Amino acid sequence: MMCVHHTCLWLLIACYYVTGPCYCVASLKKASCSVHHGRADCSHLSLTAIPSDLPGNITSLDMSHNRLRGVSPASLHPYPGLLLLDVGYNSITVLDNGICQTLPLLQTLNIEHNEVRLLKKEDVTYCTNLSRLNLASNRLKLQGEPFSALQSLQFLDVSMNNLQSAKLGSQPQLPRLVNLNLGSNIFNTLTRDDFFFLNRSSFLQVLNLSSSSLKTLEAGCFKPISGLRTLILDGSRIDSEVIPKLCSELSGTDIDALSLRKIKLVTLTNTTFTGLQKTNLTFLDLSNNDMAKIEEGSFQWLSRLQTLILSYNNIRRLTKGTFQGLRGLKQLHLTGALVKSHGSSTAIIDDFSFQPLSSLQSLSLQKTAVREISGNTFTGLTSLTELTMSWSSYISLKYLTNKTFASLADSPLRKLNLIGTAIAKINPGSFAVFKNLTILYLDSNFIKQNLTGEEFQGLGQVQEIHMTNNYQYLNLCPTSFVHVPGLRVLTLGKSLIATALNIDPSPFRPLVNLTVLDLSNNNIANIRENLLEGLVNLKVLKLEHNNLARVWKSVNLGGPLLFLKDTHNLVTLYMDSNGLDEIPVKALRGLSKLKELSLSNNLLNNLKDTVFDDLTSLHVLRLEKNLITAVRPEVFKTPMSNLSLLVMGKNPFDCTCESILWFVTWLNNTNVTSLPGLKDQYMCNTPLAYFNHSIMDFNPLFCKDMTPFQTLYILSSTAVLMLIVTALLVRFQGWRIQFYWNILINRTLGFSDAKVEEGRQYEYDAYVIYAEKDASWVERRMFPLENEKCRFCFEDRDSVLGMSLLESIVNNMRKSRKILFVVTESLLKDPWCRRFKVHHALHQVIEASRDSVILVFLQDVHDYKLSCSLFLRRGMLRPCCILDWPVHKERVPAFHQKLLIALGMTNRLQD
Ligand SMILES: *[C@@H]1O[C@H](CO)[C@@H](O)[C@H](O)[C@H]1NC(C)=O
Ligand SMILES: *[C@@H]1O[C@H](CO)[C@@H](O)[C@H](O)[C@H]1NC(C)=O
Ligand SMILES: *[C@@H]1O[C@H](CO)[C@@H](O)[C@H](O)[C@H]1NC(C)=O
Ligand SMILES: *[C@@H]1O[C@H](CO)[C@@H](O)[C@H](O)[C@H]1NC(C)=O
Ligand SMILES: *[C@@H]1O[C@H](CO)[C@@H](O)[C@H](O)[C@H]1NC(C)=O
Ligand SMILES: *[C@@H]1O[C@H](CO)[C@@H](O)[C@H](O)[C@H]1NC(C)=O
Ligand SMILES: *[C@@H]1O[C@H](CO)[C@@H](O)[C@H](O)[C@H]1NC(C)=O
Ligand SMILES: *[C@@H]1O[C@H](CO)[C@@H](O)[C@H](O)[C@H]1NC(C)=O
Repeated sequence: MMCVHHTCLWLLIACYYVTGPCYCVASLKKASCSVHHGRADCSHLSLTAIPSDLPGNITSLDMSHNRLRGVSPASLHPYPGLLLLDVGYNSITVLDNGICQTLPLLQTLNIEHNEVRLLKKEDVTYCTNLSRLNLASNRLKLQGEPFSALQSLQFLDVSMNNLQSAKLGSQPQLPRLVNLNLGSNIFNTLTRDDFFFLNRSSFLQVLNLSSSSLKTLEAGCFKPISGLRTLILDGSRIDSEVIPKLCSELSGTDIDALSLRKIKLVTLTNTTFTGLQKTNLTFLDLSNNDMAKIEEGSFQWLSRLQTLILSYNNIRRLTKGTFQGLRGLKQLHLTGALVKSHGSSTAIIDDFSFQPLSSLQSLSLQKTAVREISGNTFTGLTSLTELTMSWSSYISLKYLTNKTFASLADSPLRKLNLIGTAIAKINPGSFAVFKNLTILYLDSNFIKQNLTGEEFQGLGQVQEIHMTNNYQYLNLCPTSFVHVPGLRVLTLGKSLIATALNIDPSPFRPLVNLTVLDLSNNNIANIRENLLEGLVNLKVLKLEHNNLARVWKSVNLGGPLLFLKDTHNLVTLYMDSNGLDEIPVKALRGLSKLKELSLSNNLLNNLKDTVFDDLTSLHVLRLEKNLITAVRPEVFKTPMSNLSLLVMGKNPFDCTCESILWFVTWLNNTNVTSLPGLKDQYMCNTPLAYFNHSIMDFNPLFCKDMTPFQTLYILSSTAVLMLIVTALLVRFQGWRIQFYWNILINRTLGFSDAKVEEGRQYEYDAYVIYAEKDASWVERRMFPLENEKCRFCFEDRDSVLGMSLLESIVNNMRKSRKILFVVTESLLKDPWCRRFKVHHALHQVIEASRDSVILVFLQDVHDYKLSCSLFLRRGMLRPCCILDWPVHKERVPAFHQKLLIALGMTNRLQD
């Protein structure tokens, strides 16, 4: 690692003077080796020796990119369990034979890019367990049979060693070798005994001779390795004339794959591959060859070929004979193979060019430029299931008609890729021949039309139509997709005109199986509430970069549009960049399967409580770049309970206890796996004290200090409130409380028992209390009511002779079943009444029960006055014990009747 930065340099100098040279380098580099799962990585540490302080049980040690000059076996003693040792990119000159002795389990030894010069048998004599040896890019001079001890070696790389010969030994050896890389060496001849040393290597599969300079191949050079399966000659400086020779040398071998990329093979003739006739070659890569001409019959020898790669060439013309004989071909790659180069005309595909390819399943014509597609261009491709023409230029594709693909009528095509082919219009029935098509790509074209539905006629099996990036010229109507009811994926991002979805019924109504719908980037402002009606299988809905703010506004005419009410299986919802400033409480109801919700780049501020409450499965929530100030549990507790990714930065957070405490605490304790930008993008905007600080700087202790005060506040305010209520209650209803209280006390303590009282013999039915002034009324109205069954006690009349007045009153009251007050203003003022009679009467009332009092009102007396002077209120008595003296004479009998009823009542409280 070079230290070129200026500060770095100064640091180095400063460091040098302060601590001396030894520590400086280390202090500027990666600190030390890292060890994970038994693998130690000590690369790029400028080490000159293997560290001795690593765990003894490591199985892999990477010492690459250091300054080792050698590897001493002693330094490996602490790590006997090593399976892999990488000492690549050092300055090792000699391979010490003690390495394999010290590391008996070693399987992989990587010494690439060192300065190993001499390699003798003794150097690797103990490496019998080694399976991979990489000696690439050294300066090998082989002496004797250096590799003969490597009984287990499977992979040997001696590329880039300036080897003068491919001959690595003279005796058969390397019995287990699978892959040999001899590339980038300087030998230009393969002699017949070069590979004799591999004569017994029956597992050999791959021989890499890339970037070599082969000029001469002696007859029989591949004989010793006729089991070879793969030969790589990419980038070789090999004469075109040598290729037929190469092929004939491969004749009769097991060769399966031949890679001839970048070898300037400009022309193929009908004899180039003759030698491959007696092979079972299945894979041939001829890409990047600037190939201009393929003679007819060039591939006639390759009847077993399955994959032919002709990508990135400059082929001018395909004819009927080009692919002649490729009966078994399954894949043909022509990506970038047919182009229009300046100075020449556009390439041509003749009619019936592909006819010999009856087994072809996949054809790629990506990035090609071809003059036209005719009625027979693809004729004969009876097995073709996949056709890719993306990013190509075919004039015939500008206006698709029912003739464009007529030649594919016999192909069971399943996948058609027409991305970026400059289609401008699809006429009715253009795809009608594709009865088996399941996937259709039409993205990145210029399709400008009103999709009436006829365009997709005949695509009965289609499951996916991709039409993103069509420059927003597409319009829809209710019948647009009637011919493709099995559609599962429909992408219309950046393709629709802004009004395309403002139609009723919805164009998506027939698509009951739709699972993915992309309507993003369309500037759509107006949709209908039934846009997604019936799409119960919808899982992914992309609506980002539209203009749907109005749709969810509460002031929207007719209320917000709850267009997600049918899509209960939604898993992913994108609504970023829509100018949303509110979300109706019911907008996301029922979306209990939603895993990913993206609402970034909107104007959301105050989210309503419970708006996310149904989102119990949410894993990913994106709300960055909104105007969110507060993150309250009422909104976010449910959706955040299960998250694995939260993106909420770049909001103007209000760092007060009320707004942010819950969120900060949650962030502190959450086990969400990913919170990108937590340190630098979650900033406080208010209050001033926290402005531009990370919300994680928010001090929760502030809020904790508040808690006792808050409790105190709540307690004290509650107390005050209760006091007020009690005071008011006492003030206005105190009498009632007191009254019932008294009754309760008397009852429980047994001062009175109505039943006992009931049995007592009363002398009078009622003791009548009245004011002096009302005596005449009493005489006139009460006396006449007396008879054998009904007797009143009037103090004036019935006082016991010889008794004091007080005694007499007490006595008489006790003898009376009821106490009857004749209430008038005068009574209230009468001192006797107020001071004694009433008190005693009340005593009696409480002792017995409230039913023992009857009030007869001669005047209308206010309840307040009544309670002041008599300590009685109307509400204390049963309604029938309160009687009003009627104004109208005719009602007097009724009054009498009522009075008798009141007197006849039992004293018992009726519960
Ligand atoms: C290696 O040993 C260390 C202790 O020295 C131990 O913690 C670690 O689990 C061991 N690793 C393996 C792969 O055995
Ligand atoms: C190769 O093409 C030449 C004409 O270009 C023709 O005469 C010859 O018969 C062809 N050979 C084979 C094997 O098809
Ligand atoms: C090619 O395959 C066939 C049958 O699969 C086999 O009989 C024949 O020997 C093979 N040819 C070569 C050269 O491997
Ligand atoms: C192709 O469309 C034309 C009209 O555009 C029609 O006359 C013709 O019958 C159609 N051909 C087929 C094979 O459907
Ligand atoms: C193509 O579809 C037809 C019926 O529409 C069916 O008979 C045929 O088997 C399908 N071909 C393939 C390869 O699926
Ligand atoms: C689109 O086509 C449908 C069906 O033909 C038609 O009803 C509708 O008016 C057309 N819309 C436009 C904008 O041309
Ligand atoms: C929808 O999918 C179901 C199950 O795969 C299938 O049976 C049904 O035919 C499909 N509906 C349409 C209209 O293709
Ligand atoms: C977050 O945790 C740290 C250490 O556990 C603590 O000091 C800090 O006060 C916590 N912050 C909040 C908001 O809980």
